[in-house]
Amino acid sequence: MAFKRPDGRSFDQTRKIEAKVGIIKKADGSALFSFGDSKAIAAVYGPRQLYPQHLQNPEKCLLRCHYDLASFSVTERKRPGPTRRSSEISYVMTKALEPVLHLQNFPNSVVDVYIIITQADASTRCAAINAASMALANAGLLMKELVSSVSIGKVADAIVVDLTKEEEDYTITKEGKEEKATTDIPLAFLSRSEKLSLLQLDGKIKLQELKQAIAAGKKACVKITEIQKQTLKKIKEK
Ligand code: CDP
Repeated sequence: MAFKRPDGRSFDQTRKIEAKVGIIKKADGSALFSFGDSKAIAAVYGPRQLYPQHLQNPEKCLLRCHYDLASFSVTERKRPGPTRRSSEISYVMTKALEPVLHLQNFPNSVVDVYIIITQADASTRCAAINAASMALANAGLLMKELVSSVSIGKVADAIVVDLTKEEEDYTITKEGKEEKATTDIPLAFLSRSEKLSLLQLDGKIKLQELKQAIAAGKKACVKITEIQKQTLKKIKEK
C-alpha cells in the first residue's frame, strides 16, 4: 500500500514554519525557527576575544555552535546536559554554517551560537541551522549567503520533505517482522551558490533516490531561504 503522510501533508510540503528574529535582547543576534512542533531558539554572542588564549587563531575567528535539546522538549524526559548526540549536532551545525562567514576578518576571536530546542518532533538540527543562520545575520555579521536546512525522508518508497518523529519511526512488516522503513537525510544548502553544507544519512537508499531526495531538499530550501530573508528584512524596516 502506498505511503500516506499521517498529518495529511503532500510529499513536498514542510510543516507550518514560524520565523522570528531579535527575540533575545541581550544577545548580539537571535532568532527562532520552527517546523511544526520542532522549535529552535538561537542566540549569537561575538565576535569577541577568545579565551583561553591558546585557543586563539591569529588567522581566523573560531565559530562554536552549542546545540541543546531541552529536557522538557521531548515526551520521555531527557537528562539535562550535553550528550554524544548534542556534540555531534553542534559539530555538524558548525560545519554547515562556517562556509558563509568571513571568519578571517576576526583573528583571535570567537563567535558563539547557542541553540536550544524547546520542542522536539524530529528535524531539530534543521530547525537549529535555520535559526542559527538567521541569528548570525541578525548579529550584523557579514555573510556571503544564508544557510537553509530541511530533512528529507525516504519513508517506505516515498521521498518526503520535513520528517516528523512519527514518520522517522515508521515501520513496515516484512516476513512477519516489524522493521524500520525510514531513511532520514538532513540537508543544508547555501542560498546563493546552492552548495550543500550538510548531508547526513541514517538508513539505506539507492543512488537515484538520493539524487531525488537532494533535489527535493533544494526546492524546499529555496522556500525556506525566502522566509528567512523576509523575516530579516522585517526587523531592518522597524
Ligand atoms: O531532531 P533530529 O531529527 O535532527 O535528530 P535525531 O537524533 O534524528 O532525533 C530525532 C527526534 O528524536 C528528535 O527531534 C526528538 O523528537 C527525538 N528525540 C527524543 O525524543 N529524545 C532524545 N534524547 C533525542 C531525540
